[in-house]
Amino acid sequence: MSQGPVLIFDSGVGGLSVAAALRQHYPHAGFCYACDNAWLPYGLRDDATLAERIVAVCLAAVTACQPSVLVVACNTASTLALEKLRRHLTIPVVGTVPAIKPAAALSQTRHIALLATRATVRRPYTQALIDRFASDCVVTRVAADALVNEAEAWVAGHPPDEARLQAAMMPLWQAAQDTTSPDTPALDTIVLGCTHFPLLKPWLVELAPVPLNWVDSGDAIARRVGEVAGALIKSAADGRCFTTGPAEHLTNGLARYGFQPAQLLPLPS
Ligand code: DGL
Repeated sequence: MSQGPVLIFDSGVGGLSVAAALRQHYPHAGFCYACDNAWLPYGLRDDATLAERIVAVCLAAVTACQPSVLVVACNTASTLALEKLRRHLTIPVVGTVPAIKPAAALSQTRHIALLATRATVRRPYTQALIDRFASDCVVTRVAADALVNEAEAWVAGHPPDEARLQAAMMPLWQAAQDTTSPDTPALDTIVLGCTHFPLLKPWLVELAPVPLNWVDSGDAIARRVGEVAGALIKSAADGRCFTTGPAEHLTNGLARYGFQPAQLLPLPS
């Protein structure tokens, strides 16, 4: 039986979308949250420095929380550093990768889109997923790093800026409405390939010019945690939260997801 909490890690507040899915699947389990908000956004950082940083922060968070499972609730971190993390840790590490497989299974038109950070859309890991699961689909990739800031602002209590959402989504709205090309069918399914983006889904659905399928990784991660963790029980550490930078502005938002005000994570110098 697992005694330690499930530790959820992201660059920022995106992992809260995964925390919501996990809490829904396992209402009696214990969860801790850690984020590297001092280095946010990850999507614009160079790969080599970022990989080292992710390992350093995750190891510090594991020391602080003593979890039974680590969930890397970040596509940008997982597509870069999952194997490296597994080499450093003895507990199971569950990653987050863009939900290309379920999106391809769902699409009727065989045109799907990947909405993610600049880093995730161009990673070899992502290309391998597309080759494996969506080789018969047109896959439109859109880097939407601006939406990371909008999700951060929302959790801090500010409604997203509709003009910025529209600007980020415009290539997808066009692809969804374009029925004129004989080679490219209209887009019908969007993969939210950054964990920040499901936090904005109510606005994105509202702004979409046509009905679309929206796919994220939350439920698949929750199922995977159940497989690797066995029985999940409440732990005394439930609700603890660690950040690498100031996070007072997130206190109310964290509380909505069952987390206490953040403590500063001690990092090795
Ligand atoms: N939430 C992270 C993801 O899933 C990325 C945000 C960032 O760029 O830091 O990719």
